[in-house]
Amino acid sequence: MVDSGTVGRTHQTADRTSLHRLWKTVLAVIAVTLAVACYFAPVLLIAVGILVALLLCARLMYRDRDRYIPNLYARDVRLYDDAYQEFIATTLREIRRCRIAGHPLLWEAARLPKRTSDNSGELLLDLGVWIGWSTRLTADATGRTVYGFDTFSGLVEDWQIEDQFVIKQGTFSLSDPLAQRFIRDTGVSLSDGVPAALGRDVHYVKGSTYDTLAPFLAQRPGAPIRLFHMDLDTYDSCLHALETCKERFVEGSILVFDEYLVTNGELRAFFEFQNRYGLEFRYRAWGLEVGEMNAAMVTTRWKRATYYLAAVAIHLLDGRYLWKIFSRRFWRFWLGAPVGDIAFMLGAAGLRKSVSLEITGLGTLDPTRR
Ligand SMILES: C[S@@+](CC[C@H](N)C(=O)[O-])C[C@H]1O[C@@H](n2cnc3c(N)ncnc32)[C@H](O)[C@@H]1O
Repeated sequence: MVDSGTVGRTHQTADRTSLHRLWKTVLAVIAVTLAVACYFAPVLLIAVGILVALLLCARLMYRDRDRYIPNLYARDVRLYDDAYQEFIATTLREIRRCRIAGHPLLWEAARLPKRTSDNSGELLLDLGVWIGWSTRLTADATGRTVYGFDTFSGLVEDWQIEDQFVIKQGTFSLSDPLAQRFIRDTGVSLSDGVPAALGRDVHYVKGSTYDTLAPFLAQRPGAPIRLFHMDLDTYDSCLHALETCKERFVEGSILVFDEYLVTNGELRAFFEFQNRYGLEFRYRAWGLEVGEMNAAMVTTRWKRATYYLAAVAIHLLDGRYLWKIFSRRFWRFWLGAPVGDIAFMLGAAGLRKSVSLEITGLGTLDPTRR
């Protein structure tokens, strides 16, 4: 356990979304350019009109909407068994009612009661912290102690994302060039391979959660978990953490999953977990992944602008929404997604896979039922 830093000084709302304002400006510029081009070359207007009419007709003919999930890596959800398909369908219906512009982790953190003598025993856990900003920003927003867990040497197992690609074990190590650049540009220092607290009330626990989480809880007998932020990415680590923490969840515990809309990862792990114990819960927010806040924490303004421009350029050139017409995922999105989802997904230069929920009933985890 590494204990560093003092109580956070700045409790300002840390949720910065300048990147997405820049992205919307770029979209607006593209739209205005297209409108002007149509004005000067009316043939373009006819072409655009035909494309829109074709899209509308195709959407009318495409009745199989249940196959779509708002994560463009996602596979066809009909591959799954009925119970899981039903869970996904219910999840989508409910999270659509709680879309937010920002990041569910910071949104939840800002809404937690501030530190009092009554809640000082509650645990705020950040699982998977990389260079530590998710933990520090949670401490800023809550004004409370936050515990961050990471190997700091990367993923402990391969992360198979849907049927798309594998992120290898060891990725996200702090020795990676990308981590080194963010460490330098966001002013983070390391001590024994662990990021510094930088004046916040955060404590980093180094090691695999398979080894660290249970002893950490054992040292704090009976302490309830108030905030559980899952950003370990893989199905196995997620399910293991849920199982290890299960007796510390209470009614009112807030669980935030950074990669919830990966159907073979955190979503699947939570589906199995809640099903096993008959947990009751309600979704609260659906929005941006917190990892992108690393760019918002770059210390110099011009460098930050460079990071934002790079993110916008990657998002544009990546073309998932625009020119991957050979991909089935592309058609599931444009033909199958509700219009509200299309607007929500297009409105950010990043992925919106993060979801938060509140436990409202403990099912068989209720100690009075055990
Ligand atoms: C996506 S990164 C976390 C990003 C971070 N929350 C942020 O906002 O910048 C995932 C992190 O989880 C860590 N990790 C994955 N599985 C782990 C495990 N079982 N135990 C400890 N750390 C793990 C990796 O080392 C990696 O740093």
